[in-house]
Amino acid sequence: MHDSAILEKIKLNNKTAMITGASRGLGRRFSSVLSNMGANVVLAARNKDKLLETQEIIKQSNGECYIVDMDVNSEDSINNAFNKAEKKYGEVSILINNAGIAISKSSLKTSIEDWDSVMNTNLRGVFACSKVFANRLVAKQKAGKIVNISSIAAEIVLGEYLSSYCASKAAVSHLTRTLAFEYAKYNIQVNAIAPGYILTDLNKNFFDTKEGKKMIETIPQKRLGKPEELDGALLLLCSELGSFMTGSVIRVDGGHVIA
Ligand SMILES: NC(=O)c1ccc[n+]([C@@H]2O[C@H](COP(=O)([O-])OP(=O)(O)OC[C@H]3O[C@@H](n4cnc5c(N)ncnc54)[C@H](OP(=O)(O)O)[C@@H]3O)[C@@H](O)[C@H]2O)c1
Repeated sequence: MHDSAILEKIKLNNKTAMITGASRGLGRRFSSVLSNMGANVVLAARNKDKLLETQEIIKQSNGECYIVDMDVNSEDSINNAFNKAEKKYGEVSILINNAGIAISKSSLKTSIEDWDSVMNTNLRGVFACSKVFANRLVAKQKAGKIVNISSIAAEIVLGEYLSSYCASKAAVSHLTRTLAFEYAKYNIQVNAIAPGYILTDLNKNFFDTKEGKKMIETIPQKRLGKPEELDGALLLLCSELGSFMTGSVIRVDGGHVIA
């Protein structure tokens, strides 16, 4: 096969991708990358000002994007966001379930409200967005791709104070497999990326501490990842290069889990 045929497979022209949590951090990066590969990107989150910043970045590289207000804790909000996206671009065929939060507390001090808040955003939100997305594609007999953003916290215990976060991500990785199994017959692929530590707002306070700096020393590559180091895994799972993949969880962690 000629090189250009391989490059063609990675392009996302005429596709529409919805990215949850597109207002900052990894979601902002994912939105830019998918836009650069030719997709129309739908930027979903709650913070309008931050979404406008993401939109500006995409517009500067001549990308096509559209902002929708979405709270992944509300099925109505998710449905409204998909309605608006479809009105603007037609069907959404790629969903990046990226929105997520962490509450770092001893489990002895974690309130049931804290627990629910992490589980509802990180797990129920992934389920609810996937369900809305898949139902729409199934009704039209169209194919699609879901990429869930899990974490190495699904596999290893990341410190003492992240019980709700680790449990939520373990469930996201397994939900990826269960939905992949169920949706294969509809031609909807479901995979996940499990990043190790990538510096963003989610964890920057921790990495400013002595304990955080010590943690970096335990990573075989002895550094934090950069958001752009997830580009390869993202494009593999969103493009035709990954056409025979479903139910996979790709770890991108500088060797953290194997150490
Ligand atoms: N950074 C890492 O090292 C790392 C490692 C492994 C996995 N991850 C995962 O990667 C994802 C992104 O993390 P990040 O580091 O980019 O975090 P971040 O900078 O804190 O961004 C989190 C994003 O999630 C959105 N969000 C939170 N609650 C939401 C809700 N109820 N509805 C809609 N959007 C919501 C936020 O948008 P609004 O506040 O505007 O709604 C924001 O855009 C998360 O799932 C995280 O668990 C991150």
